[in-house]
Amino acid sequence: MHLRCVDCGETYPADRLVTRCQCGGLLDVVIERTGPLDRSAFDRRLTALTGFDHSGVWRYRELLPPLPDAAIVTKPEGNTNLYEVPGLAAWAGVARLVLKHEGENPTGSFKDRGMTVATSHALWVGAQIVACASTGNTSASVAAYAAAAGLPAIVFIPEGKISAAKLGQTIAYGARIVQIRGNFDAAMALVQEAAQRYGIYLLNSINPFRLEGQKTIVFELLHQMGWETPDWIVLPGGNLGNTSAIGKALTELHEAGVIGRLPRVAVIQAAGAAPFYQAYRAGFREYHPVTPETVATAIRIGDPVSYAKARRTIEVTNGVVAAVSDEAIMEAKARIDRAGIGCEPASAATLAGLRQLVSDGVIPVGASVAGILTGHLMKDTDAVMNYHLGPDAAHHSLANPPQVIDPTPAALEEILGDVL
Ligand code: F0G
Repeated sequence: MHLRCVDCGETYPADRLVTRCQCGGLLDVVIERTGPLDRSAFDRRLTALTGFDHSGVWRYRELLPPLPDAAIVTKPEGNTNLYEVPGLAAWAGVARLVLKHEGENPTGSFKDRGMTVATSHALWVGAQIVACASTGNTSASVAAYAAAAGLPAIVFIPEGKISAAKLGQTIAYGARIVQIRGNFDAAMALVQEAAQRYGIYLLNSINPFRLEGQKTIVFELLHQMGWETPDWIVLPGGNLGNTSAIGKALTELHEAGVIGRLPRVAVIQAAGAAPFYQAYRAGFREYHPVTPETVATAIRIGDPVSYAKARRTIEVTNGVVAAVSDEAIMEAKARIDRAGIGCEPASAATLAGLRQLVSDGVIPVGASVAGILTGHLMKDTDAVMNYHLGPDAAHHSLANPPQVIDPTPAALEEILGDVL
């Protein structure tokens, strides 16, 4: 195993954390696998009720960094449900839609898949302290995994711009929290400088070991689909780590002969935080950071760190990038919530984007689509309350405000006459 620069090809040993190449490029983890991949081993491990095989990450260990068992910190993670959602497929306009709910991970987001691998790597290389910048989910995951590993953690968050639930979670798990007067991009710049200056182990997705863990979203998804690839995989894009991980996973499965063809990847950004979409529109000839603004605070990011790797995902899979309005995100979220599944606003960009791409004729009506839901509904209850009870609730067809009555049957019949 070693690290290799995606720009210049320079290599580095994997037994320490190098987050960037000397040339400034991003690094990939390269794993030398010997022998063919035995898919049936993955099936056999599904019967495990405990241990590494029970983790929806480490079950796929042949495709992950070979870290010693003693270093591995696992809760375990993964094993997230794949929901068949015909009603939402019809709403989006496609023949088949399945939703992989990564909000069902231990801390409520897909970040845990990356965190088990990166935290294990941190222990292996003898890290003394870990840190990240975050819009809230990474910070919760870092705090939880650092607590499990017995490592102190510092998280940098944009003041006032992460949901109360995520802030509360991070406080509760015991990380030291630094609130930045500025946005996520400013926090990201500061944490990189601090990591360099003070020798802190950086747990953001610029750390290539994070992406190794996040590859397992695809491994588990395709395993659940019997290794039949959908036509499209749709996911939200913010800092673009996940987009990068999903492309790397697909490429590796294809090269190993586990899948016969690559699905196309569609990355959805919030219109107010869409530098990747704008670069895509310009044929990737130019890239400009933006000042981000969106209701989906998880993806309120204007200068994504993993831009170069995410671009590779789009190019390799013949993918597309789209941008959707906050209104479209919140409407799609209300649909997913009402289906009894639920997700946080950023995750709903997946369904909003799918619907838009079908209506634009990019994704054909007959397509089979797998959508990734990245975070749990309970991650952002402020967004729920605002949609259902806020000043614009009257304009929302799915608004479901609670009603207040006196404790009498007459009052009850007055408001529930239609169902009693
Ligand atoms: N969805 C959710 C719920 C997220 O929390 C994030 C990113 C994304 C999508 C986008 O993923 O950054 O890999 O493109 N959250 C990070 C955080 C930035 O700090 O929690 P990405």
